[in-house]
Formats: sequence, C-alpha cells, structure tokens
Amino acid sequence: MPAESELNTQGRPIILIGLMGCGKTTVGKELSKLTGMPLLDMDSVIEEQIGKPIADIFRDEGEAHFRALETALLRYLESDEGSAVCCNSIISTGGGVVLRPENREILRRLGFTVWLSVDVDILISRTMRNNNRPLLRRPDREEVLNQLLTQRSPMYAETAHLKLDSSELDIPSVVREVYKAACAFFSA
Ligand code: S3P
Repeated sequence: MPAESELNTQGRPIILIGLMGCGKTTVGKELSKLTGMPLLDMDSVIEEQIGKPIADIFRDEGEAHFRALETALLRYLESDEGSAVCCNSIISTGGGVVLRPENREILRRLGFTVWLSVDVDILISRTMRNNNRPLLRRPDREEVLNQLLTQRSPMYAETAHLKLDSSELDIPSVVREVYKAACAFFSA
C-alpha cells in the first residue's frame, strides 16, 4: 500500500457514488482510516440535521423533500463556508444523489468522483441484510434494483471520473484501487 503522504488531494474530497449496497460506506470508512481524511456520509449528515432516519424522512416528507435536502447539502459543501467542512475528506453519498442534474454537476466539480459498480446479485445479497432503505422495503427488491441500475447507470457514468468494477474485488483491493486512482487524478 502506498504511503499516506503520497496522496495530495489539494484540499479536495474523494467522492464515492453508486447504487445501494455497492460498498460506499464500507470503502469510505477504510479509505478514511488509510488516508487520515475524515469521512462525511451524506445520509448521516442529513439524518443529524433533520433529527430522524432517512426512512422517516421519506415516510413523513416524501422522497422529493429528501432529494431537495441532498441538493441543499451539496450546494453548502461547494460554498466557501462548506468547503472547509468537506475539503480533504472522503464523501460517501446516497445512491440516488445522481438523480438531479445539478447534483451531478456539483459532484464532478467538487472532487475526484468514483463510481463503485457492482453486479446486481451482490447488491441484492448485501441489501437483504437490513431494512432501512425505504426504496427497497418491498418484496420485488431484485426487480427494483435492476430498474434503478438501468435508470441510474448513465447518470453515474456522467458524474464519475472513474468507474471501478468492484464485483470481483474485496474491500482492501477496492480501497487500494481508489487510492491509486486518486493519487493519479490529483497529481495530473
Ligand atoms: C437511496 C439510497 C440510500 C439513501 C436513501 C435513498 C437511493 O443511500 O440515500 O435510502 O435512492 O438509492 P445508500 O446508497 O447509502 O443506501
């Protein structure tokens, strides 16, 4: 593994995007440990800000409201005030953050954006483990995930500087690949 000092992000974040269950949070945590860069999990920030879990925000205020909260957070992170919060951090996003064109533009401007792409079978087995994702609280999970993959893949592709096919990789390997790619991106 390269030494921590080799990565100089010039104060910009490394951003992880991809579908629910692709490993953004797990990879984000490991990358944070490796680099010493703090992890900013957008879903957690929104939950703290609003004072309730994402599932309750969906239930009480609706998905459109949640999407507006995501955009508001990204606008803040791009502002002078917010850049102090997200500078030199790892940002783990919610899977639907790419739905709004404005979000896609901000994410691409903000830092080095990596799409963790994973086969749908893996997404299904990983998302079976908990029931906290409102979009997947239904019996036809597999179909929903397939539809989301079809709908969102072009959006992830448009947003990401790197698509990392990580179905065959274990977490340490994904972390290593993201790290190496970030070194190359920021030193170019
Ligand atoms: C969502 C993904 C979730 C969370 C919300 C909506 C989505 O985040 O933001 O439930 O639309 O794909 P994770 O991708 O971290 O599960």
